[in-house]
Amino acid sequence: MASTLITNISELWTLDPALEDPDERGATGAQVLRDAAFVIDGERIAWTGPAAEAPEADERVDAEGRAVLPGWVDSHSHLIFDGDRSAEFEARMAGQAYAAGGIQVTTDATRSASDERLAALVAQRVQAAQALGTTCMETKTGYGLTVEDEKRAAVLAERLIEEGVLDEATFLGAHLVPAEFADDAEGYVDLVVGPMLAAVAPHVRWADVFCEEGAFTPAQSERVLRAARESGLGLRVHGHQIGRSGGVALAVQLGAASVDHVNFMSPDDIEALAGTAGIATAPGEQDGLLAVDRGPTVATVLPACDLSTRAPLAPARALLDAGAHVAIASNCNPGTSFTSAMPFCVATAVLQMRLSIAEAVRAATRGGALALRRSDVGHLAVGARADLQILEAPAAIHLAYRPGMPLTHAVWRKGRRVA
Ligand code: NIG
Repeated sequence: MASTLITNISELWTLDPALEDPDERGATGAQVLRDAAFVIDGERIAWTGPAAEAPEADERVDAEGRAVLPGWVDSHSHLIFDGDRSAEFEARMAGQAYAAGGIQVTTDATRSASDERLAALVAQRVQAAQALGTTCMETKTGYGLTVEDEKRAAVLAERLIEEGVLDEATFLGAHLVPAEFADDAEGYVDLVVGPMLAAVAPHVRWADVFCEEGAFTPAQSERVLRAARESGLGLRVHGHQIGRSGGVALAVQLGAASVDHVNFMSPDDIEALAGTAGIATAPGEQDGLLAVDRGPTVATVLPACDLSTRAPLAPARALLDAGAHVAIASNCNPGTSFTSAMPFCVATAVLQMRLSIAEAVRAATRGGALALRRSDVGHLAVGARADLQILEAPAAIHLAYRPGMPLTHAVWRKGRRVA
């Protein structure tokens, strides 16, 4: 692969972890370079600095005064599904509350879809996300809910990771008790922690559970998470989306990498997450991947989901003020957030959750990387994966200043231009 010099950059958001002041999470200071340039060599960032000092490279791209950011790290999505739930959304806009039950509708449609159709749908969804600057994406199983269908989703996600389309896969067999187990929730949990986990674990790095009224109780969720940990998987939790389900305490207690949604939060919940902020991460088995079982529990907020379900916005401001790590993700799924538009999520975090643009950009890049326990993405320091976006704007603040406008000019993933 040839080297590429990208120059004439108004703002280069390196978000270099080495330049971070741990007491000022969200401040960017030296992590944003002005009148800057950088060099991509192969899949990595090879140099960053003032444009006037840029070295030669095989190719040269003139950013013409635009801003450059790391690509978005979308740490929460459910892309493997078929079927349409727009009628449920319309009913919600007319006043109906969100309940987990709609997951069954998608499960029925997904079980009926062919392997080829599911693969094509996921590929289209990833491409749509990339076109808006997403360069690292996690996705979950969870619309199969049989051993066979959950394994099918996990194998598909694994294949897309191997092909360089996706980055992380999560087992979410504990998404909903499916209709055929309506009278036997414990029997379904037995299936999840037994044959289903055994079939899926070899294909994924993570396990997740929907710990919520209408889905799984804290005791059932704990069973699932402990079994997943025994199988070597890292843990994630859907928690406090509909009420104070106990998912936050469980995530903290078990050292989950992330608890996602966090809409209904008490001061104690917020403090509990902040209390994990200083837990050090440790290197994992592969370059760029950190150990799944060590690190802080990140609070992942899902602004598009909050709007689509008319939930109280997750208290991202209070979480940051308390010192917790925060990530922003799309939660792209057919029920509660049928969008993968990270610029929209970032704009909402600034406009409605009251984050600064630096805090929001950081949460949608470095925050997502921490939630996935990865060190290779979410920043543009020398040695990082060359995942980046050139904005159609001179400064990142335009993402919130001009919400909904097409502000993605170009996107590189692993050193290759993808949009
Ligand atoms: O993260 N809350 C659980 N899972 C998804 C929604 C699933 C659905 O309704 O289809 C979420 O919001």
